[in-house]
Amino acid sequence: MKLPQVNFPTTIVIFGVTGDLGRKKLIPALFDLYAKEYLPTTFRIVGFARKEYSHEVFRAFVRDVIRERGHHHPDEMINDFLENVFYQQGLFDDIHTYTVLSEFLGQLDLSVGQCTNKLFYLAVPPASYQTIFQNLAQSGLTIPCSDAVGWTRVLVEKPFGKDLQTAQELDMLLGELFQEKQIFRIDHYLAKETVQNILTFRFSNNIFDPVWNREWIEKVEIKLLENIDVQTRGAFYDDVGALRDVGQNHILQMLALIAMEHPENLQADHIRAGRAKVFQSLRLADDDIEKGVVRGQYEGYASVEGVRPDSTTETYFKLKTFIENDRWRGVPFYLESGKALGERKVEIVVHFKKIDPCFCPQPHGLHKHSNMVTFSIQPEEKITVRFWAKRPGITSEIIPRDLSFDYAGDADGKESLPDAYEKVLFDCIAGDQTLFTSTDEVRASWEFITPILERWDATKLEVYTKGSAGPEREL
Ligand code: BG6
Repeated sequence: MKLPQVNFPTTIVIFGVTGDLGRKKLIPALFDLYAKEYLPTTFRIVGFARKEYSHEVFRAFVRDVIRERGHHHPDEMINDFLENVFYQQGLFDDIHTYTVLSEFLGQLDLSVGQCTNKLFYLAVPPASYQTIFQNLAQSGLTIPCSDAVGWTRVLVEKPFGKDLQTAQELDMLLGELFQEKQIFRIDHYLAKETVQNILTFRFSNNIFDPVWNREWIEKVEIKLLENIDVQTRGAFYDDVGALRDVGQNHILQMLALIAMEHPENLQADHIRAGRAKVFQSLRLADDDIEKGVVRGQYEGYASVEGVRPDSTTETYFKLKTFIENDRWRGVPFYLESGKALGERKVEIVVHFKKIDPCFCPQPHGLHKHSNMVTFSIQPEEKITVRFWAKRPGITSEIIPRDLSFDYAGDADGKESLPDAYEKVLFDCIAGDQTLFTSTDEVRASWEFITPILERWDATKLEVYTKGSAGPEREL
């Protein structure tokens, strides 16, 4: 079913469409939305890149991408989709290109018979953001047709800056060129199904909401562990490192959802403000950075193409943090991520305090029976509650058992889970900014991360073996 705010003629322009993100995520997501009838009835997709493609060659490229992704839709459906796909060749830094693009979009609007909404997706390296923002604004492409029709929106990928200062500069530029309601800053983790479910789980269940605080919770672990290494992204990654790549954004966003206060209502502004507030209260465990941080690099990283041979860029980090507010004071939050580890696992584990005395055979204080709530985000998507029960039989031994909600085994989850990028595109067209980061969140997250980066060199870089669990030092 199409939401009325989605079903208005819309043109989606993708800058850098032939790159990795375009091929792996955006084209498949747009096609899936189309196949599920979630795109507006009238839509146009315009790929924009440097390659000398014609519309036909680009359509063949899109067809290959759809086929490679193993879609089993009839050819007829793919052909119908491709009729709405176009290509514009150009250079990001050439203002003339934008005039040509503007004329072309004008022709498409004529073919539709009205001014369409325009969505500009920047699937390009961050170094091109500033140029594209400026040229988009200068060419008038982002000026809506009127207050009532033809909105224009800009979708931008992370990384959003390199530190507090660069993020603020970029944000100031955006603020000068566009209104906040036009800017959609993507953190695709916010659009993952189980991540979205965190707030529902916390605030729709009276059995968890009252115990979600320092009185009952012992610690929280947030892990984004990857078994892949940096692959072909050496040159990009070496300038960024794990903390900027996934810490400042994906991991902090998961933390915010676990820790934020009940929003006053479900409006995007309130939820975004709630997340930003968590970042504003974050502190590292100790002034002595070594006590709050483990920083690692996998063996062999320095010989990856594009990486400096003497690189000290981290491919792993673990932080011990605290949230300075009444709900969380004193509860450690461990944030961990790394590349080339032994397993691929993204999860959040909330450990509850042990109940003492416990109704179990062990003496007071000596048992290990605590409850846990685990949000599994990858590879499986599920929520599990660990509880303790008496083992059937004549002894009073107690055993752990899990109650879980698993998307794969759930009747409603059987319709394949949408990819996060489907949700990102759908929400941007619908104008819902809940799952996009606000300017306040960007600033507050960098305010926490930048001082750590500034003292990074004062921490020991620990080398770990590929395929291991990362550096051994505990926090
Ligand atoms: C990206 C990072 O933002 O997130 C990558 O740049 C990382 O380095 C990726 O691999 C992880 O996302 P996902 O959805 O594959 O878990």
